[in-house]
Amino acid sequence: MVGEFQYEIYERIEELEGAEKKLVEAAINTTSQAYAPYSGFKVGASVLLKNGTLVTGQNQENAVYPLGLCAERVALFSAGSQHPTEPIVAMAITTEKQLEANEIPPFPCGSCRQSIVEFESRFKHPIKLFVTGTNGRIFVFDSVKTILPFAFNSDFL
Ligand code: THU
Repeated sequence: MVGEFQYEIYERIEELEGAEKKLVEAAINTTSQAYAPYSGFKVGASVLLKNGTLVTGQNQENAVYPLGLCAERVALFSAGSQHPTEPIVAMAITTEKQLEANEIPPFPCGSCRQSIVEFESRFKHPIKLFVTGTNGRIFVFDSVKTILPFAFNSDFL
């Protein structure tokens, strides 16, 4: 064994506090604003910047299906655009899909994981990840690299 896969699970949002609780609440509250008329699958994301600012995003679909963008990248690119010098320190992701009590929430797609890695590399700061769903359980990772090991980054170029 040369690597480890570590994460935490919280059963309820009330177990979080401060900026992290607000971050997860922001993701939950923004999900209904998703534009998802084709899939009907609404996703919300929020990012916390080092200066305390919260930026949110939701999936934005298109009649030309492949043009749609995931909530995570809407939030990330919005933060990168509006606050280009401010590191992202944490991110929360959620969906409106109804889950069973012990079910795991839908996790970010591979493209979004890679996009989050880019922000970790860009600002040389890990992004703590909160993934949650309608059953209240929250999966927490210290860095996106936990769910994208051996990720490609600019060091390889
Ligand atoms: N979606 C996200 O917004 N984030 C993900 O990580 C997975 C999928 C969106 C894309 C599409 O609008 C809908 O969910 C169904 O795939």
